[in-house]
Amino acid sequence: MENIDWLNYKGLEYRDGNLFFNDVNTIEISKKYGTPIFVISEEIIREKYRTLKKVLNSEYKKNHIHYAVKANSNISILKILNTEGALFDCTSQGEIYTCFKAGIAPERIIYTGNMFTDDDFEFSVKNDIIINLDSISQLKRLIKIYEKLGKEKKIISFRINPEFGAGHHVHDITAGREVKFGILEHQAIEAYKKAKDFGFERFGVHQHIGSGINNPYNFEKAAEKYFSIIKKLASSLKIHFEFIDFGGGLGIPYHPNEEPLDLEIYKEIVVKPFKKLINIENLGEPVFKIEPGRFLVAESCILITQINTIKDNGYKLFAGVDAGFNTLIRPTMYGSYHHIMKCNKNKKDKILKYEIVGPICESGDILGKERELTKLIEGDYLAILDTGAYGYVMSSNYNSRPRSAEILISDGHIFKIREAEAFDDLLRNQIVPDHLK
Ligand code: LLP
Repeated sequence: MENIDWLNYKGLEYRDGNLFFNDVNTIEISKKYGTPIFVISEEIIREKYRTLKKVLNSEYKKNHIHYAVKANSNISILKILNTEGALFDCTSQGEIYTCFKAGIAPERIIYTGNMFTDDDFEFSVKNDIIINLDSISQLKRLIKIYEKLGKEKKIISFRINPEFGAGHHVHDITAGREVKFGILEHQAIEAYKKAKDFGFERFGVHQHIGSGINNPYNFEKAAEKYFSIIKKLASSLKIHFEFIDFGGGLGIPYHPNEEPLDLEIYKEIVVKPFKKLINIENLGEPVFKIEPGRFLVAESCILITQINTIKDNGYKLFAGVDAGFNTLIRPTMYGSYHHIMKCNKNKKDKILKYEIVGPICESGDILGKERELTKLIEGDYLAILDTGAYGYVMSSNYNSRPRSAEILISDGHIFKIREAEAFDDLLRNQIVPDHLK
């Protein structure tokens, strides 16, 4: 169970039995805006960014934090981070387009896609976006695009797969011989040599080993391998790297018993060895980049959902809510734990064990298993924590359910930053052929 410190850390507090998030009464906003609803705190996003920036600055000032847009691509969130001085990491043309709409300049964006199409290359070359290539084979195609557009070659960077990955789930471990990402050590020299032969003169290098890493020591082996590959590249090809990108993956504590990632240890494991590498090998002063998504935004958001059905089938007690895996897929997709709390707490009620389930027609639609909560009744509201990363962006229209609204708490004021979808949105791109009209 959560204690006061945990609640405080998450920006939560019970006042007269009502749950407040970032000083806003969760029951009042649920009644006003409807549920399910994603409630985001601007203050928490800013605080997370500043905390991380401070830690990096304390060791190596020439650093860039690229927010991984895939975690949450709402334009308002991008704007918040842009005003903090963040840069951005995109994985698709759509994310880059969204960044542009948020007023972010191309030179602040890095494009780490995989399985790039020629169209992806054309889009990024036209828009002067730096690319982290994912395969040697892509180089030739990229060169053709440069030639076709008559553009001067920009910095080129490859994603290195250091073979030591980590992550909260096997789907999110993105390094290792068995995974599709990046190029392995034995191909790295060839990749950069080819790039030089093709006339590239400016270089960067990238890796990303996985997501949801709470134990900083899990970065250790990857860091050693990655830095040793960089050393070889620099010495054998005389490459001067303008940036060295360590990727994202910084985890957050989803469970009250979990400890937050220790950033001081992260600094020891990752940033200090980086500094040692550039000093010993005389690599100049490359920019040290990281690409966190989850760390910056996960804890900034709670998803509020309303209970519509309490069902005791004699074996299990179910609390049926209006959010399902169409709203938040992480529990179903990865077995992820998201802490769930009552928005109205009555201390006198006894504690019972509930399955918190959504309205989707699949038995896997479980948001929380065996959760101990004080007695729930139909009409109660529940807050599902830490839904700011990979929450809304992974939601869907499955079972023809419109996606939810998002609201932003900013200095005690509330702004709707996304309308809930309507039924017409479900039909928007459908075309009925004449013979069926
Ligand atoms: N950079 C690259 C190249 C990435 O592929 C990712 C995430 C990140 C940065 C940001 O990782 P983060 O700091 O957020 O861990 N849907 C999953 C997470 C997938 C992450 C994929 N790549 C989940 O809900 O846990």
